[in-house]
Amino acid sequence: MNLFRPNIQQMTPYVPGEQPGIGERVVKLNTNENPYPPSPAAMKVLAEIDGEQLRRYPQPTALAFREAAGAVLGYDADWILPGNGSDDLLTMIFRACTEPGRAAAYPVPTYSLYSTLASVQDAEVVEVPFDDDYNLPADALAAAASAVTLVANPNAPSGTLFSPEELEALAGRVRGLMVIDEAYVDFADSSAIELPRRCPNVIVLRTLSKGYSMAGLRLGFGVARPEILTGLMKVKDSYNVDAIACAVGAAAIADQAYKNECAAKVRASRGLLAGQLEAMGFRVWPSQANFLLVRPPTVGAGQIYEGLKKRGVLIRYFQQPGLDDKLRISIGTDQENAQLMRAISEILSSACEGRGERGEQ
Ligand SMILES: Cc1ncc(COP(=O)(O)O)c(C=O)c1O
Repeated sequence: MNLFRPNIQQMTPYVPGEQPGIGERVVKLNTNENPYPPSPAAMKVLAEIDGEQLRRYPQPTALAFREAAGAVLGYDADWILPGNGSDDLLTMIFRACTEPGRAAAYPVPTYSLYSTLASVQDAEVVEVPFDDDYNLPADALAAAASAVTLVANPNAPSGTLFSPEELEALAGRVRGLMVIDEAYVDFADSSAIELPRRCPNVIVLRTLSKGYSMAGLRLGFGVARPEILTGLMKVKDSYNVDAIACAVGAAAIADQAYKNECAAKVRASRGLLAGQLEAMGFRVWPSQANFLLVRPPTVGAGQIYEGLKKRGVLIRYFQQPGLDDKLRISIGTDQENAQLMRAISEILSSACEGRGERGEQ
């Protein structure tokens, strides 16, 4: 019995990183969560949510959050569209803009949800490979002339960053909507948040999942000209942001001092961890996000991933061309990172002893 459209039947679903049960004792460095708790101001709002806020439907466009985000970013609330995580904004964009004959273009490897959402729409994709240094393949993306061009910035899983100038130049060359996915921007040196003002085809996506430590809340948003947001609103779920996310998210985004303090700690730990891994012979790509993409020196990436898992440390290993010799490690607290480094040294030295016993070089 064929219950589904042919493309749905054939597509492979998005595979999220493993989520151990609450209370399971693992060092969890596999899904790029922030190791620090959410803002105390946001937690206070959460504690004060009352039944009346839940009895009624929420305000359908999460106005309180749009106003809070607008005040922080210097945009009018009409330029901000929130969603159930930035994934929800991506869903709206693919629904509204892509179909067979209306393709999506993006550099790869990148966030794999882009290809999943294109499959749902049965839309073609133009996947332009990055070079080894993850430079922006601007000519090929422009030449694709797709209905949507997506650039994750910083990119995942490389952590590398493009300048706002490079992105602005690309926005002027692509044909359709240009999506700049800034999920990790809170850990970066620059942002393209000013581009929607200057470029009529740009939408910048942000999330509270990473910088604001609220991946469980599910709140993200897009910043673009109201004409773009009006189109996306036609395809959004009617109440896509619940009353709790709206109220708690508004308090979280208003607390920039707390977010910046946590991001500064993550950035400092990122530098420390990168240095330690490099000293052990790993190649470490320059990261502007809260994770590192690394290539191990001697032992295979899959073997290190398995060895870490056995020792209670979860990181991410993507078994796909171009990534299967690399590992993505989320930045934890300094204590978690130290546990990771101890486990990696153990794995590398036991592999080295094994080779020594077999008389290998
Ligand atoms: C590049 C990128 N964009 C978007 C998201 C989705 O974030 P959210 O939790 O806001 O849906 C992720 C999540 O890992 C991501 O890596």
